[in-house]
Amino acid sequence: MARLPILEYPDPRLRTKAAPVVVCDAAIRTLVADLFETMYAAPGIGLAASQVDVHRRVLVVDVSEERNQGVCLINPEIMHAEGTTTYEEGCLSVPGFYDEVERAEKIKVRALNPEGDNFELEAEGILAICIQHEMDHLDGKLFVDYLSELKRGRLRKRLLKQRRQPSVEDARVPSL
Ligand code: NI
Repeated sequence: MARLPILEYPDPRLRTKAAPVVVCDAAIRTLVADLFETMYAAPGIGLAASQVDVHRRVLVVDVSEERNQGVCLINPEIMHAEGTTTYEEGCLSVPGFYDEVERAEKIKVRALNPEGDNFELEAEGILAICIQHEMDHLDGKLFVDYLSELKRGRLRKRLLKQRRQPSVEDARVPSL
């Protein structure tokens, strides 16, 4: 297993649309193990392969406090979504920035596991939010895309300034 570097906004590689996984082979299972290791080390509650510059439709999430309920979704598809909910999201690719995003409250997702078996997952609350956030990454979309142009402009300026003068900022909420 290896901890992989995470791309940060506004890196244009984060805009790549990921390709479906055709065969769940050893290379995919290594990628999954690396994604889990990178997510837990960050620490984050979700990570998409796009964020480590691997443009395949693979994501991992673990919203448990004990950090022992990791789920991997390969080629995920939302079969059903209902309700709306708002949560103050963060992202490992947009460090130190949090803002409210509206998403579906409950979802039903179909995906493959690392062994290539189909499964369905019903999710609500933070797990549903996290899966939707990570699925956006696979389409080259970031949570900041939901914000107004004004807010995004301010964020870009702040991030560029941070890069010139790095400062340690404590995460207020988990990053996705
Ligand atoms: Ni993210």
